[in-house]
Amino acid sequence: MSDYEAMPHSGAAVTGHPDECATGPGDPSFAQLKSAGLDAHAVSLIVETTIGARPRIVHWGESLPGSTPEELSLLAFAQSPLGSATRLIHGSLSNEPGTGIATAPGLLVQREGTAWTVDLRVHSVAKEGQATLVITCTDPRCGITATYRFTLCPVTGVLSAQTVLENTGESDLAVEWCAAPVLPVDRRLEQVTGFSGRWAGEFQQETTERFRGTYMRENRAGRTSHDMFPAILLSGPCTSETHGPASAVHLAWSGNARLRIDTAQDGRAFLQAGELLLPGEIALQPGESYASPLLVAATSEGGVGTTSHALHAHVRRNILDPRTNDKPRPVHYNTWEAVYFDHDEARLKDLANRAAEVGAERFVLDDGWFGSRRSDAAGLGDWFVSKDIYPGGLRPLADHVRSLGMEFGLWFEPEMVNPDSDLFRAHPDWVLGAEGIEHVPFRNQLTLDLTKPEVTDYLYRCIADIVEEAQVDYIKWDMNRDTVHPASGERGAMHRQTHAVYALIDALRERFPDLEIESCASGGARADYGVLQHTDRVWTSDNNDALDRQAIQRSASHFLPLSIMGSHVGPRRCHITGRVLSMDMRVASAIIGHMGMELDLEDETAEDRATLAAGIALYKQHRGLLHSGRFHRIAMPHPFNAVSVSAVDGDEAIVSCAMLGSLPTSLPPRLPIPALLPDRRYRVKLVWPQAPEFPGTRSIYEEADLAGEGLQVQGAALGRLGIQLPLMHPETCILLHCKAEY
Ligand code: GLA
Repeated sequence: MSDYEAMPHSGAAVTGHPDECATGPGDPSFAQLKSAGLDAHAVSLIVETTIGARPRIVHWGESLPGSTPEELSLLAFAQSPLGSATRLIHGSLSNEPGTGIATAPGLLVQREGTAWTVDLRVHSVAKEGQATLVITCTDPRCGITATYRFTLCPVTGVLSAQTVLENTGESDLAVEWCAAPVLPVDRRLEQVTGFSGRWAGEFQQETTERFRGTYMRENRAGRTSHDMFPAILLSGPCTSETHGPASAVHLAWSGNARLRIDTAQDGRAFLQAGELLLPGEIALQPGESYASPLLVAATSEGGVGTTSHALHAHVRRNILDPRTNDKPRPVHYNTWEAVYFDHDEARLKDLANRAAEVGAERFVLDDGWFGSRRSDAAGLGDWFVSKDIYPGGLRPLADHVRSLGMEFGLWFEPEMVNPDSDLFRAHPDWVLGAEGIEHVPFRNQLTLDLTKPEVTDYLYRCIADIVEEAQVDYIKWDMNRDTVHPASGERGAMHRQTHAVYALIDALRERFPDLEIESCASGGARADYGVLQHTDRVWTSDNNDALDRQAIQRSASHFLPLSIMGSHVGPRRCHITGRVLSMDMRVASAIIGHMGMELDLEDETAEDRATLAAGIALYKQHRGLLHSGRFHRIAMPHPFNAVSVSAVDGDEAIVSCAMLGSLPTSLPPRLPIPALLPDRRYRVKLVWPQAPEFPGTRSIYEEADLAGEGLQVQGAALGRLGIQLPLMHPETCILLHCKAEY
């Protein structure tokens, strides 16, 4: 870390304590102000960092070349509201109680009821390279140092921010709430979108007008959860995918979380995101520190599509492990919906043959291969291959899979135990829970206490032995219950438990550097950037109904890139919704993600298997583009769901347009294709389905020879006017491919 020369606002040296300033304690005069900033990829962050004063974000948004920090501070000079404190109380980076700001504090600590009036003043400012700003603030009276780290990714402009709190006092410091740096909310951002959901119905958006008071989302599920994805979108009343102010904020954390937006009576608003701590969960001894989870945020004047582009690029570049970056995402075959707990080695080998025939590249053996696990009622925790089913261990099946050219993947649910298991019988004290409080029943399983080293040692040994023995290439790491009483020895332990999960995964990855890991939690209940720092893919939802998946994936795409979004072709009649969908529709929906399949191939007709094979071949042909390009949610009226992926250089695009229900008008609309180069000619072809059936008279499909030579047309016309859709049947989906002509 090198000392950073803070930008002086007027060249005047800062002298004395800001208490001497005319404007009041904590508010240096303009002549005294100093700022520090980061600028990257047309985004800038400017923070007032006058030594001895409170730090304050002056600007986080599009870069304003030519503007000085002084001008920006002056431009924002607000009076004190009538009938309130006689000088305006500014927010700080924690809006801590000592500031006196009349809105929710972002930091709540105490020492047996004292030391809660924390007032943090800038002590030092440093830069690490060009991209990271570190502001250290102290409050000697309360015995606290807070270090705020801001990184603006030079390539994506995405902000990562964290608060680290150190107890510099002489007694224990109880931390009740320590948000990542508090972000001021641009007043134009009047719409708030949260992500709710349920099992098999993840990522449901709820948009509301921002109101004076508190918009709050709290997750107490002990995992990222189905219903409280830790993210918020903020937008203006006229913001669209491509225009207008927008911010997308996410907390990279897989445990309990709180996100809130407090809009004060005076109209100012602040966003806080942090870990939801249980009572007494964090007590810092002198010298100890607590680090908030990372807040990851994108902001743009170019709509919510632009924030998604930045976040996708950020995830691919800065969050995921680079070792999988250049590896084409292999087509999965997952056994769950084909066999459930009914494992039979010969049958599984046959399924592997069939999977390889249609083009699978990774065979994942799901739940049911170990201990007495013949249903979800027993055996969880006994990570020993069931000799009744696999007399020779897993190696023969794994070798068979590999002989077919596929990787071998295996399901684990390491954090959990069935009470009916040898593990629980031997170690009933290895579970989280509060003495005298009944466990909430949840899929017949309890949560192991990973804060106990003997538990993680056991799990590490079991998993490592099997990975080694069967040469496992891939783990599907599941987690199938909420943990509402995460007490270890009576104390709340969700914080330590979450870090212990990350550490266990990391230890395994260190031992097996090529091992890839999928994060699954009853589908998409652990699909956050925290876990993605340790894993390579998420299982987006247990719901393989292609129609539902269109909605789930569209919504998840605000934060998750397609390359990690597990997306499978399910059975003809979806096991969860009972809906029957054609193979064409199932394939089209799975291609827009990290494609796989999860169905009994013996149950599918030969014709459907051939269609599936063709769909997989199409995915393989285009996955390079799908997983490296820019993803667009296209604005189309109900009942259409259209998305596209365009090459970063604009040379090529894949467009998916699904008609989810019946059409209210008798003719469908036109489909605009975004992000093509306006002055370039493109050849547009319909690449899916292979043999479409568009009802009615001759359509554009035949007229423009979309299956043959294709339509040749200018990018500007495709972007602004769009291509006329043919009449489509409900519950069908077409894929178009556009390629620039030279
Ligand atoms: C969870 C997962 C499924 C499957 C089952 C196995 O529900 O989300 O994909 O692995 O567990 O029990």
